[in-house]
Amino acid sequence: MDDVCGLRGRLNELKARTNAGLGSTTNRGVRELLTFHTPLDLVRERLPELPVACVRPERVSIAATWFRDNFPGDVLYAVKANPSLWALDAVYATGLRWFDVASENEIKLIASRYSDAKMAFMHPVKSRKAIERAYFEHGVRVFSLDCEAELEKIVAATQRADDLTLVVRLAVSNSDAVYALSNKFGVSETSAPALLQKARRFADNLGVSFHVGSQCMNPSAFRDAMDLASGLIREAGVIVDVVDVGGGFPSAYPSMTPPDLELYVKVIKEVFEQMPVAMNAKLWCEPGRAMVAESTSILARVELVKDGALHINDGSYGNLFDAAHCKWPFPVKAHRADRAFEGGEQTFKLYGPTCDSLDAMEGPFTLPADIREGDYIEFGMLGAYGVAMQTRFNGFGETENITVQDQPWTSMYGPVEKRVAAPARRPARKGSRRLKVVS
Ligand SMILES: Cc1ncc(COP(=O)(O)O)c(C=O)c1O
Repeated sequence: MDDVCGLRGRLNELKARTNAGLGSTTNRGVRELLTFHTPLDLVRERLPELPVACVRPERVSIAATWFRDNFPGDVLYAVKANPSLWALDAVYATGLRWFDVASENEIKLIASRYSDAKMAFMHPVKSRKAIERAYFEHGVRVFSLDCEAELEKIVAATQRADDLTLVVRLAVSNSDAVYALSNKFGVSETSAPALLQKARRFADNLGVSFHVGSQCMNPSAFRDAMDLASGLIREAGVIVDVVDVGGGFPSAYPSMTPPDLELYVKVIKEVFEQMPVAMNAKLWCEPGRAMVAESTSILARVELVKDGALHINDGSYGNLFDAAHCKWPFPVKAHRADRAFEGGEQTFKLYGPTCDSLDAMEGPFTLPADIREGDYIEFGMLGAYGVAMQTRFNGFGETENITVQDQPWTSMYGPVEKRVAAPARRPARKGSRRLKVVS
């Protein structure tokens, strides 16, 4: 009888796992995800029907640990880059507690998961209600702004709170960035001194921030932005308590080889020491891309080969927004379940699953010439601004999540074993395994 019950229990457990699929699009923690050794193993065992995010939480741990140990100030993870629970948990497990949040939903996500997290609401445009709830319900004290009207909103919505850290975002050059972010936010050089003076009147702590643009390929961009900030602080004659150098730290994509991250940190440290700020001023950064890009690849299935192009089950409304709209050079690899590819390589254009003709990835993507329906394409380096961008347009947009144990295509952080967090500062996760260096 016992045996039968045991068997039934195991069968039920198996059934539940099968019904739950691979871990659907619902945001799951890493312990709830199935693990395969490699994406090819997944293809062979499951022939997944939906796009799959193949995640490598260790890569986030390694990146977060690097920033924790090398950045000479506080590191705020930019949640927008990848708000998946497994990624947030990996950041949190390294001991980092600060999060750069841009919306009320991001605030709720962080507040509900980490009771000791500290949040900075760094979107320069927020609704009054969002500011009010952030302050009174979620304990947020750090707010960014780039104009007087936003300052007035923050002051009013927090009922003239006397414990605010107000961070004035400056417009800076984005000319060294692959993805410029300068068009929308940042106070101009001419208006900045007056805004700094006004913000100082309402701030317990006053900060300056900027964003040099995403995937910034030159550490000197940080020097230039910090020098500009110094000039504006002098002109305004205000005491500044926080210098926030924003995001922009790069990842190593094919055809983009950025300088070592050490050089970025060296420049930032050197310039910060010379800035006209309070003696005990704090230095912050808000990395997004550099923390998560290496961690995830997206596995998409070929549904049709037509007129020399491949129609796949993921696209610009799913996880491949940047491949479509920014022509971002994600590396690709083809997988086939039953036998090897034959007959050399060829370049392809890709189409996503929706009916919109904008749902196309020009590439060109170099793939096996005999790729066909039922084969899979793995897009690497998609941990940042990948799953974060997906929509439900046309009824698509569901992505399954699994963990894999292979290596990413490239890394900014050197061999895995060299960079793993020191055990004393990184709380152990049950079931977590150390990766082997494969190459
Ligand atoms: C205010 C702010 N901080 C940080 C980031 C993260 O930037 P990155 O992913 O380039 O590191 C962004 C990106 O848009 C941002 O707007």
